[in-house]
Amino acid sequence: MAASKRAHSHLSRSPQYGHTQTHFSIAFPHSTHIANSSSSASFFFFKVTLGSHNKSYKDLIDFSHKVTNNKPRVLLTRRLHDFALKELQKKYSIFVHQGKIPMPKKILREKIKETNALVCFPYDIIDRKTIESAPNLKIISTYSVGFDHIDIKAAKKHGIKIGYTPEVLTNATADLTIALLLDLLRRVTEGDRLIRAGNWKVIFGAYDYVGVDLEGKTLGIFGMGRIGQTVAKRAHSFGVKIIYHNRKKLSRTLEKKIRAKYVSFDDLIRKSDVLSVHVPYTKDTHKIIDRTVLQKMKKSSFLINTARGKIINERDLAKALRTRLISGAALDVFENEPIGKHHELTKMQNVVLVPHIGSSTAETRRKMAEITMQNLILGLDGKKMIYSV
Ligand code: DGY
Repeated sequence: MAASKRAHSHLSRSPQYGHTQTHFSIAFPHSTHIANSSSSASFFFFKVTLGSHNKSYKDLIDFSHKVTNNKPRVLLTRRLHDFALKELQKKYSIFVHQGKIPMPKKILREKIKETNALVCFPYDIIDRKTIESAPNLKIISTYSVGFDHIDIKAAKKHGIKIGYTPEVLTNATADLTIALLLDLLRRVTEGDRLIRAGNWKVIFGAYDYVGVDLEGKTLGIFGMGRIGQTVAKRAHSFGVKIIYHNRKKLSRTLEKKIRAKYVSFDDLIRKSDVLSVHVPYTKDTHKIIDRTVLQKMKKSSFLINTARGKIINERDLAKALRTRLISGAALDVFENEPIGKHHELTKMQNVVLVPHIGSSTAETRRKMAEITMQNLILGLDGKKMIYSV
């Protein structure tokens, strides 16, 4: 455990550990890992020396080369935590994509042909065509709570089981939402940018850098699932009133517990001082927050999105922020990720931007890796996954 932790942190800090690099080494206390580029620049394999015994893991890592065993073949579109990788290596022939992220579609569709189980991430588009190129695929285990990147209908039609990672990331995502909420209203990162740019010239003016009180405001929650409910519970400590809109109204008992009032979508957007988005991304929520919706929001209101970028029409939002149709926005997710420094939202001071970090705490990401791995193992063993779609 300690060894894997140390190896992981070394990897994380290594300047060599880039998305496109094909040569690197990992320092383990009792072993030496040497990674080489394979015949394709996108693939790699390890050679591991454990104590005095030399054991090549080449065939366990990369089944694009000769596979000398009949173990199920597992494709990972990106490296997972070392403890999970090691566990998977014990049971399966594993292949870890080490090239461009996301794994290019052409390479994915080629590699998936011989794959029995796939580990993917929320940016990997597992569409119908990809599924149809995978005659041997039995399991898709995604390292995410969202599964909008997978064509669920196509997967089910082909008898493929899908595992995902809800619950373990609820608190982390709710915490980030609260962080963004406070940041927006109190202009925290805006102040940070101001100081770093050398623009804090005069001390403590009556009208300087004033924000907005949270107490007494109405927080509107769009999507009252696990994360929405946890945001509601946390937000109560700031003395807010909570309204929500959801596909299904919650039970009276649950509404009472989280002290939230169900309203229509129209009322939600008109009455919220802060509107926080927590719905899944589906064809019904695709760009649901557009110009028409933004025009109905209060001019003093703020918008927060920690769900999926495509729920908001980003161009309409940018215009609404520029023209002060709403006061500000905080976004963890975007229509196309990653956004670059030239994106128009980066030019606005009334916007807080973070790089899709809703679930990104060490503890949560580790739990996600554990569940992703367990879902895959259980699925391949023909057992019930911990969380399945
Ligand atoms: C997920 O798991 O779907 C989230 O986007 C992670 O933050």
